[in-house]
Amino acid sequence: MAKLTVRDLNVRGQKVFVRVDYNVPLEEKDGQMVITDATRIVETLPTLKLLIEQGGKLVLAAHLGRPKGKREPSMSLRPVAAKLADLLGRPVAFVDDCIGEKVEKTADALKPGDVLLLENVRYYNEEEANDPVFAEKLAKVAQVYVNDAFGAAHRAHASTEGVARVVAKRGGRCAAGLLMERELKFLGDELEKPARPFVVILGGAKVSDKILVIDRLLDKADTLLIGGAMAYTFRLAQGHKTGKSLVEADKADVARSALAKAGERKVKFLLPVDDVVAEPVKTDKLDKKGKPVIDYQNVRVSTDLNCPADAAGLDIGPKTASAYGAEIAAAKTILWNGPMGLFEDKRFAEGTNAVARAVAEVTQKSGAKSIIGGGDSVKALNKAKLGDKVTFMSTGGGASLEFLEGKALPGVAALSEK
Ligand code: 3PG
Ligand code: MG
Repeated sequence: MAKLTVRDLNVRGQKVFVRVDYNVPLEEKDGQMVITDATRIVETLPTLKLLIEQGGKLVLAAHLGRPKGKREPSMSLRPVAAKLADLLGRPVAFVDDCIGEKVEKTADALKPGDVLLLENVRYYNEEEANDPVFAEKLAKVAQVYVNDAFGAAHRAHASTEGVARVVAKRGGRCAAGLLMERELKFLGDELEKPARPFVVILGGAKVSDKILVIDRLLDKADTLLIGGAMAYTFRLAQGHKTGKSLVEADKADVARSALAKAGERKVKFLLPVDDVVAEPVKTDKLDKKGKPVIDYQNVRVSTDLNCPADAAGLDIGPKTASAYGAEIAAAKTILWNGPMGLFEDKRFAEGTNAVARAVAEVTQKSGAKSIIGGGDSVKALNKAKLGDKVTFMSTGGGASLEFLEGKALPGVAALSEK
């Protein structure tokens, strides 16, 4: 990577503005917000420890949720400051704002090695608007800029992009953190010249989310394994009936051209040969978004490529899982993004779990490199307690997809060259 990293810095006595992605899941328990998964905080510790060792004065900035310019109390970063202090084993100061006099005074009082976390930058609309005046205000406490927020690097926001520009214009340095560096290494460099066979597993609900990734990976992969509801748009494209499965009928053409490209490039393109199907029934219950909760009845395996009219495909079936398992077992490099089915429901989790086990096993036994592209696949691996059995799990959801599509990430582009 040609970008400057924290390894190239010596920040002794300087105020270092560190953009981190602490957009962690929270749940309310007894009137308090509790962090349910601290992975994104844990993953920044190496960067923070290095900067602390160097004697920097750390000012951390992050967003949480999408408060859209409002001081939404449930989206405060205060609980994150407490969690970070626990994990770092040292105090973490917190200010209930991210700009202004209070922030500047607290930052000025920091001693080398001290850590301060600022309040949610998205309490201001100017953050997402990448407002230059707001970026200047944030940059008041930034002698050096470090971006370790890979998960937010696809956003051209004030704290991910604007501040870096301000610091660079002043002649200050803007560096990638160690997590950012690792993400770019595994999702980027490692997949440029992969050891072969290179097997890509793609799942998730929508073809439209993955079109560009599929297209790009068809240039690189030996084998593509498709699962998730996305597979049913391919079935539709092949002229099969899809029943009540989630399909994007307007994306059938895209699916057809992907199949054609796979044929031309001699990429093995595998689609499910059997499914777990069930009949969706609306219930009286409403979910958090106010939509009726769907109950699934009459769960069964179907080996007919035409889905029964009253049923939806919700997971890959056992024959597919074993065929995919065999491809995975022979792989030297694996990239996995997206679950094979509705894995949040136990009855539709076996396909995803089988893939998770196969990926973990080939990594452990044959030394294959397995790279997990963030989001739901990471959740599924952790749920199966296999997270530590793969080579790398990305902390980015949208960011990892955009990066895999070959797009330049604004948060990375803004960093200084070595
Ligand atoms: C994420 O969780 O995907 C990142 O933190 C980015 O958040 P956003 O999608 O709200 O910009
Ligand atoms: Mg997102």
